[in-house]
Amino acid sequence: MAEPINVVVTGAAGQIAYSLLYQLAAGSVFGPEQPINLRLLDIKPMMDILQGVVMELEDLALPLLRDVLPTADAGVAFKDAAAAFLVGAMPRKQGMERKDLLAANVKIFKDQGEALEKFARKDIKVLVVGNPANTNALICSHYAPSIPKENFTAMTRLDQNRAQAALASRLGVQVDKVKNVIIWGNHSSTQYPDATHAVADLPGKGSVKVSLAVNDNAWLNGEFLETIQKRGAAVIAARKMSSAMSAAKAAGDHMRDWWFGTKPGQWVSMGVVSDGSYGIPKDVVFSFPVNIKDKKFEIVQGLEISDFARSKLDITAKELEEERAEAHQVLMP
Ligand code: NAI
Repeated sequence: MAEPINVVVTGAAGQIAYSLLYQLAAGSVFGPEQPINLRLLDIKPMMDILQGVVMELEDLALPLLRDVLPTADAGVAFKDAAAAFLVGAMPRKQGMERKDLLAANVKIFKDQGEALEKFARKDIKVLVVGNPANTNALICSHYAPSIPKENFTAMTRLDQNRAQAALASRLGVQVDKVKNVIIWGNHSSTQYPDATHAVADLPGKGSVKVSLAVNDNAWLNGEFLETIQKRGAAVIAARKMSSAMSAAKAAGDHMRDWWFGTKPGQWVSMGVVSDGSYGIPKDVVFSFPVNIKDKKFEIVQGLEISDFARSKLDITAKELEEERAEAHQVLMP
């Protein structure tokens, strides 16, 4: 059996972590052959609650889970880390402006970037879940300059999973019969869930373009798009808490695909530092379709972008540029 790897989860006393930690300990993310040491980071006032999570992790009695270390010290958490789920973030409180939220989070992700720079393995894979996830990932990467930019990603997999499930439901097929739906841009309501390049495996028909199978562009460019963009808010309205079980599952999906690669002919969406593909400004963390092999992703190239898609890509790119400018303002006023 392999040597254990150190895996960090921040916001470890929170809701998403509560679902995510089980998946990690059970081997659903790094595989059944990879033992793990968990490094659980949260803020000081949460240490007693975190102790309860540690007790539950022990009580899982899972053989892959080796050492579990709860801490409020980022330096301790990130020491020799091979993978990190940055889930912890300042939540939006009532009456809080988007700007204030961004300011609070930019500081958290700057500190964590600096700790990653000092203590983590240089090949660490960092997945940022905490919002605003894309810009937090950018800041984090900026403060960890000796770790390659490609090692920082932001989560839009929940949006992808939601889009895939909605299309499967519309077509009356199992969710795994739909593939290659894309989430472009920011993990926010400006994201563009794009079914143009998606295909579905239909009974008796084989692989068919989703746009042909649905045959209703008004729905694809209207209700479908808005439902996915606003799904997070709909869950909050119903549950009075934000998506957690599905967010944790998506975080596991994202990291597992990054670790083991995507299936042939299938791509997944991840927020990655833009290299200018599809005319997106460089140096924002933008969600693109990617193929992954040998733990490295490549942005899928050459997809046709319609005028409608172009306008959607530009809106979400503009929002990310604004967030980046606001973040710079906080860090270098
Ligand atoms: P939660 O409020 O239940 O837990 C967050 C935890 O983070 C708390 O235990 C808190 O003490 C901790 N925390 C705060 N500041 C920290 C710091 N500086 N270092 C370490 N820990 C810190 O929140 P939940 O539901 O687990 O969500 C976490 C984040 O994930 C939120 O920002 C949420 O908006 C985001 N999210 C992102 C999604 C995505 O698709 N990218 C989907 C759903 C949620």
